[in-house]
Amino acid sequence: MSNPSTPRKISFVVYFIGFTAALAGLLFGLDVGVISGALDFIKKDFLSELNPLQADSRAEFIVSALLWGAVAGTLMSGFLSSKFGRRKTILVSAVVFVAGSLACAFSPDENFLIGARFLLGIGVGVASFTAPLYLSEISPQSVRGSMISMYQLMITIGILIAFLADTWLATYATFGGQTGGHWRVMLGVIAIPAAIMFVGVLSLPESPRWLFLHGFHDRAKDVFRTMKLDETEIAAEIKEIEESSAVKQSGWQLFSQNSNFRRAIALGIGLQVIQQLTGINVIMYYAPRIFELAGFGDKTEQMWGTVLVGITNVLATFIAIAFVDRLGRKPIMYAGFITMGAAMATVGVLFNSGIEQHPSLGYPAIGALLIFIIGFAMSAGPIIWVICSEIYPLSGRDLGVTVSTATNWIVNAIVGQTFLTLINSIGGGNTFLLYGGLNVLFIIFFILLVPETKGISLEAIERKLMSGKRLREIGR
Ligand code: BGC
Repeated sequence: MSNPSTPRKISFVVYFIGFTAALAGLLFGLDVGVISGALDFIKKDFLSELNPLQADSRAEFIVSALLWGAVAGTLMSGFLSSKFGRRKTILVSAVVFVAGSLACAFSPDENFLIGARFLLGIGVGVASFTAPLYLSEISPQSVRGSMISMYQLMITIGILIAFLADTWLATYATFGGQTGGHWRVMLGVIAIPAAIMFVGVLSLPESPRWLFLHGFHDRAKDVFRTMKLDETEIAAEIKEIEESSAVKQSGWQLFSQNSNFRRAIALGIGLQVIQQLTGINVIMYYAPRIFELAGFGDKTEQMWGTVLVGITNVLATFIAIAFVDRLGRKPIMYAGFITMGAAMATVGVLFNSGIEQHPSLGYPAIGALLIFIIGFAMSAGPIIWVICSEIYPLSGRDLGVTVSTATNWIVNAIVGQTFLTLINSIGGGNTFLLYGGLNVLFIIFFILLVPETKGISLEAIERKLMSGKRLREIGR
C-alpha cells in the first residue's frame, strides 16, 4: 500500500525519475554558482575600458540579468506547465538551458552576455517552478518527502560543483596555450548537464496527476504501472488525485474576495523577502571579491575559499533536514537569525578595522563568513521554502507559491544588483553590518507574525487561517 508508514520497495524507475527531475535542481545550482568565479575574467575582457565604478555597475547587471530572467520564467511557468504538461515544460526549459549557456559562452560583448543570461534565467525560473511540482506529483506517497528534499540538496550540490569547476578553470586548466581564466568554458559547459537532462526527461512519463486532470485517465494509470505500482496502490493514488482535484484552483478570485487569503500571500512575500535579505547571495555571487577585500589577493586562495563556502552550504543543509520536523521551524529559524546576525556583524567589524592593513584579520573574517553560511543553510535556506508551501489554502496554493517564488527571485535580483554599489558607496564593513542588523527585524517578524507549522495538517492550518485567526496562531 502506498501508505507513508508502510515501507515498500521503490522501483528503479522511480529513482530514475527522481534523479532526472532533480537534475533540474542541479542545473539551477550550477547557474547560480557559476558567475562568482567567472565575473573577474569577464570584467577583464569586456569592462576593462571603464573606470572601476562603472565596471562594477555593469558587472551587477551581468549577475542579475539571470535573476530577472528567472522572475519572468517563474511568472510564465504556471501557465506553461498547466497548458502543455509538466514534462514538456521541463523539456523546453532544458532547451533554453542549452541555448542560453552556449549563447553566454560565445558572447561577443557585455550587452549580448546580459541578454543571454536573461534568456538562461527564464530557463532557471521555469525549471525551478516546474521540476519540484513534477516531483511532488509523480512520487509515490511513501517517498514524496525525500524526493523533494533531494531537490533542495541538489541545488546546493550544483552550486558547489560550479565553484569547483570555476576553481579549476580559473587557475589550473590549460587550453590553447592559456592557463586559467577560462570564463567562456565555465559558462558553456553547463550546456552538457542541460543536454543530459533533456535526453533523460525525454524518456520520463508525463505527470500522472496532470494526465488525469486533462482527461487521460488510462494513460495516468499506465504511468503508475510503469513505476511498478500494484493495482491497489494505483487505486489509492488515483483516489488522492480525485480528492485534491475536487478543489478548483481559484487563486485570483480568492485573492480579490478573501482578506484571509491576502494575509497568507503577504506572509509568503515577507518570508521570501527575509530569505533574500539575509544576504546569502551576496556571498554566492561575489565570494571571490569578498575574499579579495578580506586581504586574499591571490586568485587561487580566493577560489578555494569559495569552494569552502560551497562545501559548508551543502553540509549544513543536512542539519535542517534532520531537525526541521523534530524541533520545529521557528526555533531553528531563531538559531539561524542569531547565528547569521552575529556572523555578519563580526565580518563587518573586522572589515571596518582596516583589514587591508592587518592581513591577520583575514582568517577570522573568513571563519565568520563560513559561520554565516552554516546559519543560513541550516535555517532560512530550506525552511522558508517549507513554510511557504504550507501556509496557503488549497484552492489558492498555485497562486500563493507563484507569488512567493517570484518574490524570491525579485529580491534576489535586487540584492545581486546592489552589492558592489553598496560596498563602493558605504564600504564593505558597513554593508555587512547592515545585512547583519536586519536579522533583528527578522526575529521580530517571526515573533509577531509567523506560525509554527510543525506537526499540524495543512487542512488545520487552512481552517485557522480562513476563520480569521492571527497569522501567528494558524499553526500549532
Ligand atoms: C535560496 C537561493 C540561494 C540558495 C543557496 C536557496 O534556498 O533561495 O537564493 O542561492 O538557497 O544555497
